[in-house]
Amino acid sequence: MRALVIDASSRQNSSVTRNMTRQFRQEFARAYPKGQLQERDLIKTQVPHLSADTIEGFFAPSPSLQAKRATVLSDQLIAEFMAADLLCFGVPMYNFNVPSALKAYIDQIVRVGRTFTKVADGELQGLCAGKRALVCVSMGGMFAGSEMDLVQPWFKAIADFLNLDEIEFICVEGTSRGNFSRQQAMDLTSDQIHHFLTAATAERLSV
Ligand SMILES: Cc1cc2nc3c(=O)[nH]c(=O)nc-3n(C[C@H](O)[C@H](O)[C@H](O)COP(=O)(O)O)c2cc1C
Repeated sequence: MRALVIDASSRQNSSVTRNMTRQFRQEFARAYPKGQLQERDLIKTQVPHLSADTIEGFFAPSPSLQAKRATVLSDQLIAEFMAADLLCFGVPMYNFNVPSALKAYIDQIVRVGRTFTKVADGELQGLCAGKRALVCVSMGGMFAGSEMDLVQPWFKAIADFLNLDEIEFICVEGTSRGNFSRQQAMDLTSDQIHHFLTAATAERLSV
């Protein structure tokens, strides 16, 4: 079993989502002692926004050498992503959406011919079947599932487009509120991570 953990909180210390992904690492090591775990910290190593050269490298039939060079990072990120059976994302809500660092990462890995392809009649088909994703979300307010929550619908759309087998969310809410209990949140998270890692038949993605 191979897992990829992707962190996107700008906070290195006292980050709720980094605590959640740390719990995932611990539970994963317990559940799969021989498993391999890869880490991708989108803050420590920032992923650049797409440039004109990157887009040429993605789409041109015969890209220039410069355009090919511009897609080297995308090649590496996609190889890492495609090697994983399980994906765990740590996602703080920023302005009701995902952090821009995570959006930049997704822009680098959602790529024609690599993670999705064109099929008959111009239809597009995801190439990422066989993977399950766990998205650990944290937000200061109480917005999970409301129309202000752009995180979950966006992630579901990406998972559906790439044809992931499953996507599951753990949402910790109210982290900015006075009565927020970090311990309570971590206990809940731990149960849900355990369930994600051990669930034999997980709920199918429905979007
Ligand atoms: C730049 C920024 C924007 C934020 N925007 C929102 C928001 O739109 N809605 C919300 O509920 N909380 C918002 N928050 C609060 C964070 O979602 C909350 O502190 C969360 O627990 C952060 O996760 P972390 O501890 O892993 O960094 C924002 C925080 C920051 C720093």
